[in-house]
Amino acid sequence: MKQSATASACGKLMILGEHAVVYGYSCIVSSVDRFITVTAKKAKGKDAFITPGVSDQSLIRNAVLIFRKRFLVKEGVVLSTKSNLGNFGLGTSSATAVAAILALAKILDIKIDNHELFDLSYQTVKSVQKKASGFDVATSIHQGTILFHGKDKSVERLSIAPLPLVVAFSGFKADTPLMVERVVHLMKKEPEKVKNIFHSISQIVREGKKAIIKKNWRKLGELMNENHQLLIKLGVSSNKLNQMVEAAQKAGAFGVKLSGAGGGDCIIALVPLSGEKQVKEAIKRVGGKVLNLTVGKEKRENITGPTK
Ligand code: MEV
Repeated sequence: MKQSATASACGKLMILGEHAVVYGYSCIVSSVDRFITVTAKKAKGKDAFITPGVSDQSLIRNAVLIFRKRFLVKEGVVLSTKSNLGNFGLGTSSATAVAAILALAKILDIKIDNHELFDLSYQTVKSVQKKASGFDVATSIHQGTILFHGKDKSVERLSIAPLPLVVAFSGFKADTPLMVERVVHLMKKEPEKVKNIFHSISQIVREGKKAIIKKNWRKLGELMNENHQLLIKLGVSSNKLNQMVEAAQKAGAFGVKLSGAGGGDCIIALVPLSGEKQVKEAIKRVGGKVLNLTVGKEKRENITGPTK
């Protein structure tokens, strides 16, 4: 009998298509080389959770409840988490959900495939964020750069090589449910405007897919700039994010945008290797914190796949 089982799942960065994906459109998203690791042990009595740095344990508790309901398990478990994702909006919830479900499957000797892993992890994320597309869960499972279809939650793999991106934190945490609600309000007030924005975003995502496959970074950069302008129109950017975006553009980035819900978290800048230093310096000058991340690279040894 196993004494303990461990599973890891990676974080994510949205490349193109945030918000529209909540309404069934597609988006492009990449993994980052930072992980949540969950270790599971069987408990003698009640469940216990050891989550350093995380005060709200509802997500991990819900993962256990959802898993237990699906597989009718009665045993208690002890789950402990470790993270090097930081507090930058890199997908802590989805990575925790995926790693917890996988660790539970391993310790309880239950076979699950990627489809079921997505299903249970997505339910877990939705238990704390009602309006969530699931793009982040899919990325934690598949890694690399993927096209995620918001409508049927299917995935197309685009690349497993790193994207030439500089990532920087704005200093503010995004409140994802609040930003999603803001778009819901705008949708009620100005449905035609929002529909047109989503339509333009979906075209950008379609073009982005081709650019990534061809490694046409100049084109991908142009698309990121356009996507950022549309996110401003959607009302989800902030002065700080715009300042950082403009600084990186002026310093020579091919394209720059906010990544994720908006209001805070990170920007991503597509940068030719020769210009990386200038772009990083320019972002720092306006108060951005450059993160040392590799984006879009599959990491084999950490791949979260079906349990054996
Ligand atoms: C948040 O990182 C991205 C959103 O599109 C929400 C989601 O897709 O769940 C705003």
